[in-house]
Amino acid sequence: MNEALEAIKQSILEGEKKLTDSKSVYEFKKSFLDSKNGKIGQLMKEMKNIPKEDRAAYGKGVNELKEWATNVFASVEEKIKAKELELRYKAEKIDVTMPAKEIHTGNLHPITQMRNQLIDVFSSMGFEVYEGAEIENDYYNFTALNTPKDHPARDMQDTFYLSPEFLLRTQTSAGQIHVMEDRKPPIKIISPGKVFRSDDDATHSPMFTQMEGLVVDENITLCDLQGMLDVFVQKIYGEGTVTRLRPSYFPFTEPSVEVDCSCFECGGKGCKFCKGTGWIEILGAGIVNKKVLENCGIDSEKYSGLAFGIGIERTAMLKYGINNIKLLFESDLRVLKQLDD
Ligand code: PHE
Repeated sequence: MNEALEAIKQSILEGEKKLTDSKSVYEFKKSFLDSKNGKIGQLMKEMKNIPKEDRAAYGKGVNELKEWATNVFASVEEKIKAKELELRYKAEKIDVTMPAKEIHTGNLHPITQMRNQLIDVFSSMGFEVYEGAEIENDYYNFTALNTPKDHPARDMQDTFYLSPEFLLRTQTSAGQIHVMEDRKPPIKIISPGKVFRSDDDATHSPMFTQMEGLVVDENITLCDLQGMLDVFVQKIYGEGTVTRLRPSYFPFTEPSVEVDCSCFECGGKGCKFCKGTGWIEILGAGIVNKKVLENCGIDSEKYSGLAFGIGIERTAMLKYGINNIKLLFESDLRVLKQLDD
């Protein structure tokens, strides 16, 4: 009997050395202490087969072994759990001195940024935003804008026709007609949006963005136009920037002007950027042609209007010093990241 107990003791002592994790401790412990299948559990069950006079001694021996084994398992378990915890702490250790991971945030596309800035500038002067349509018919894009068929000015804009009647608008000016047909003066709107022309080189793209401006009221003059454009160039290109008007031609404005602003690189002295002139051409504008007002049912004796068309890409290219319009359309992150205002 004592030998059997001694053998169990030995196998516990030997087996215990090989235990590496809490799961194996659990299994090993079970193989001895489980009341049904454990080796010590089975010894307990044997009790009924032991002669009466030996039972007390047998029971005492088995109980002592059980108590001893329980202590041994408890201490191995404690050691292994501590070791496991240590390993876990090591694995989960955070080095607070490591540099933080950089967080990359996106930014709005430079054309969107410029569009938003222009909307801010003009809405601060009381302009309302009108969203026009990209597909127009011939009447709104040309005829109502005093550019009937066969008018030589149609050649100024190479047009994508969708059908003999419909086309992709070549200018946001088409929106002027819709607004003047739908509303009564006073009118004060800007209309940003995409326009399309069959044109493709370093400074032209078949699709680009314009922002139309239209004011119709009593006594509107070129002075009002220049005053508003001065605010625009000062806010976009910096204080001290001024504008000058040069005579030009658009069928829908009379008089028509080309607007220059003083060079914001050299302040007007003349440099490479402004090709030595001190001035940079920024947009076309004018006083709304009486014929256009009348086409829209507006009394041209009572009311007059001013209109301007800003090229958003051109404004952005000048502001950021970009010489190729393609850079604005290629979505190259190396370029776009540099153009965050
Ligand atoms: N629509 C003209 C263009 O695209 C610009 C313009 C708008 C000129 C309004 C005068 C008045 O070239």
